[in-house]
Amino acid sequence: MAKYVINGGRRLEGTVTISGGKNAAVAILPAALLVSGKCRVENVPDISDVRTLLDILADLGAEITYEEPSTVILDCTNVQSTHPNPELVRKMRASYYLMGALLSRFHEASVALPGGCNFAARPIDQHIKGFRALGAKVQQTEDYVHLKPGPNGLKGGRVSLDVVSVGATVNIMLAACLLPGRTIIENAAKEPHIVDLANFLNTMGAHISGAGTDTVKITGVEKLEGGTYAIIPDQIEAGTYLAAVAATGGNVLVQNVIPKHMECVTSKLEEMGVTCIHYDDSIRVMSDGRLSATNVKTRPYPGFPTDMQAQICVCMSIAKGVSNLTENVYETRFFGYCTELAMMGADILISGKTAIISGREKLTGAVVRAHDLRAGAALVIAGLVAEGATVIKNISFVERGYEHLAEKMTSLGASIQRIED
Ligand code: EPZ
Repeated sequence: MAKYVINGGRRLEGTVTISGGKNAAVAILPAALLVSGKCRVENVPDISDVRTLLDILADLGAEITYEEPSTVILDCTNVQSTHPNPELVRKMRASYYLMGALLSRFHEASVALPGGCNFAARPIDQHIKGFRALGAKVQQTEDYVHLKPGPNGLKGGRVSLDVVSVGATVNIMLAACLLPGRTIIENAAKEPHIVDLANFLNTMGAHISGAGTDTVKITGVEKLEGGTYAIIPDQIEAGTYLAAVAATGGNVLVQNVIPKHMECVTSKLEEMGVTCIHYDDSIRVMSDGRLSATNVKTRPYPGFPTDMQAQICVCMSIAKGVSNLTENVYETRFFGYCTELAMMGADILISGKTAIISGREKLTGAVVRAHDLRAGAALVIAGLVAEGATVIKNISFVERGYEHLAEKMTSLGASIQRIED
């Protein structure tokens, strides 16, 4: 097990480059299963979720080569198996995208239920609803999902999601791509990684329109040819660095971002007294570390992202005044980190879906533990701000989604060491 040891109280200065988007990469890499020939995918983040997914694809028979610094070349032509390695599948959440991809290509799949961050109940009933709308027969056991054609065969269909779900939108897009006929997904998620997946698939020859709106339309095609595609920058990684500078104080140019994707985060940081200057593909963030309270409600994109809830909570915990932070996507997400923040001196009262955060003068270093990816990232920010030393255990969660976090923070002047226990 590895841990971070952080000595807080330092301003962050300099330039940081954002990596490719985790949630885009974990949707695009399984999509390579749909392509006959080589896919050259650029700007792939070197994070453990991506490494696990590539291990699963290789185990299924994909030929995978790498080109520095962040290009992966996949050829899934020789893949025959429709039963991904369950041990690997259970190591992450997005492995469930293999269901849609394998169903589309082979018209069957047997995939273990995923693992990943368990900060909330994370059902997949909307994914199943989508597969059924495409004519699949779905058999779900305690730990597996088995898919095959129903009595009328597999073909395009219409599905209206009961809840805006990124995963279900992605899985249905993957499943529909190679099926005959037209598929319409209503109440679809609009996150940037949904658009990125649609752009990747269309680059390979798919016919997808409406991605980024609440209605996505897919016309099935016979096959997808190979091609080259670069993954979008990770807006949550970028938001995490913006929040870190906001809290510690400093002046940092955050490079390789799409400012449009950051507006929901930068506007809230500006309400707290932070300066964000938007350029074409970067944002300069400046803060004196003295923040004012504000209120945030998380929402599906383009609202304030639930994946930035923990990070903004740290900023609120040292802001002047009382902030309200309402979680509308995963109600139990607060419990992944608020206890730890309280150990560092934060004053957080959780009432239903809302955390009421009374800003304190300072946080104090402590020994804490990451319970999920974004909770761990928030504890890193808390450690950077706190007086004294903070030890964060279980950082494997953090390394699932943040490429070279300790190195990047060190280059900005932070005192953070990664130590193998
Ligand atoms: C994706 O998870 C992201 N993960 C999450 O990011 C992110 O928090 C979430 O979207 C919301 O933006 C990946 O993209 C790999 P959902 P996902 O389906 O797809 C309910 C991170 O930190 N729901 O959009 O699992 C669900 O309970 C991770 O990078 C159903 O009820 O999220 C939740 O309340 C954490 N039934 C809401 O929908 C379903 O079948 C949104 O979930 C599916 C979802």
